[in-house]
Amino acid sequence: MSRKNQTLGEFIIENQSEFKYSSGELSKLINAIRLAAKVVNHEVNKAGLVDIIGTAGDTNVQGEDQQKLDVLANQTFIQTLSKREIVCGIASEEEEDFISINSLDENNQNKYVVLIDPLDGSSNIDVNVSVGTIFSVYRRITPLGTPVTKEDFLQPGRNQVAAGYIIYGTSTMLVYTTGHGVNGFTLNPAIGTFYLSHPNMQYPKDGKYYSINEGNYIHFPKGVKSYLKYCQMEEGDRPYSSRYIGSLVSDFHRNMIKGGIYIYPKSSVAQAGKLRLLYECNPMAFIAEQAGGRASDGFNRILDIEPSELHQRVPFFCGSYNMVKDAERFMAEAQ
Ligand code: AHG
Ligand code: MN
Ligand code: MN
Ligand code: MN
Repeated sequence: MSRKNQTLGEFIIENQSEFKYSSGELSKLINAIRLAAKVVNHEVNKAGLVDIIGTAGDTNVQGEDQQKLDVLANQTFIQTLSKREIVCGIASEEEEDFISINSLDENNQNKYVVLIDPLDGSSNIDVNVSVGTIFSVYRRITPLGTPVTKEDFLQPGRNQVAAGYIIYGTSTMLVYTTGHGVNGFTLNPAIGTFYLSHPNMQYPKDGKYYSINEGNYIHFPKGVKSYLKYCQMEEGDRPYSSRYIGSLVSDFHRNMIKGGIYIYPKSSVAQAGKLRLLYECNPMAFIAEQAGGRASDGFNRILDIEPSELHQRVPFFCGSYNMVKDAERFMAEAQ
């Protein structure tokens, strides 16, 4: 039972029985994420005051300039998750390869792997726009007590046991699912406690916002171009409003509350789009479906894609159920 305004700590304890496996451990894992989120929140909040804005001077495996806060958030999540005897491996947008965690217990009974986008929308830090963190949790598939392997990370999204995001926005929220609906917790910064503010979040079936980087229009596939025309047509509840922040977490969060669709399609210059299947699309797709929304690559369900690479990219259509269905219809017709 969830009660509005109960603390995240209380919520985790009271809902432990919903976890499919070894409930205590998954609860500890969510607790570790809660702690790391508070540390990163503290850093993000003072970003304009201390010297943590700007690039770190390195390029990550994605070919992007790493921001100082990308590095800091990455370290914070990895350190916090590694110190507890729960996680056997971590893969991150900011790390070329996965990290294997050696348990103090030599039999390594840690069951979970975590995949993270430590800081999402990092190009927005310098201009004080909301950024986020995205996480995804799987139970390892290789036997306990053996070294973790790439296969443990390359599981289809439907195998996720938990996923969530933190949005460092006008207020900081942690939103997550363990496969039993989606709940949102808001941080009271004065006392450092998350409270249940958005119980059982639901994507409106229809919406009036579309979020896409329209600057790339010329490179979009035909189906996306026709769907955009449809969004802008005067008919029924259209034209829809365009809203694009450039932080997936923020665009997704708005669309889940107000109703809308987010699209990052493939293009003539980026054949698989930009977003990463394992760190961004799978966790967001799991949350979307748990809230009654829909997520696909324009044709197929995101959660059924069999990953082949850690940093694999995929086109992403995600949001209100009927809007994503409409967009998929335009994609199919343009084939
Ligand atoms: P990240 O900051 O983790 O690299 O992710 C950036 C992603 C996503 O948050 C956002 O929706 C998208 O990139 C924006 O890309 P464009 O600038 O190409 O629109
Ligand atoms: Mn990045
Ligand atoms: Mn991202
Ligand atoms: Mn990132």
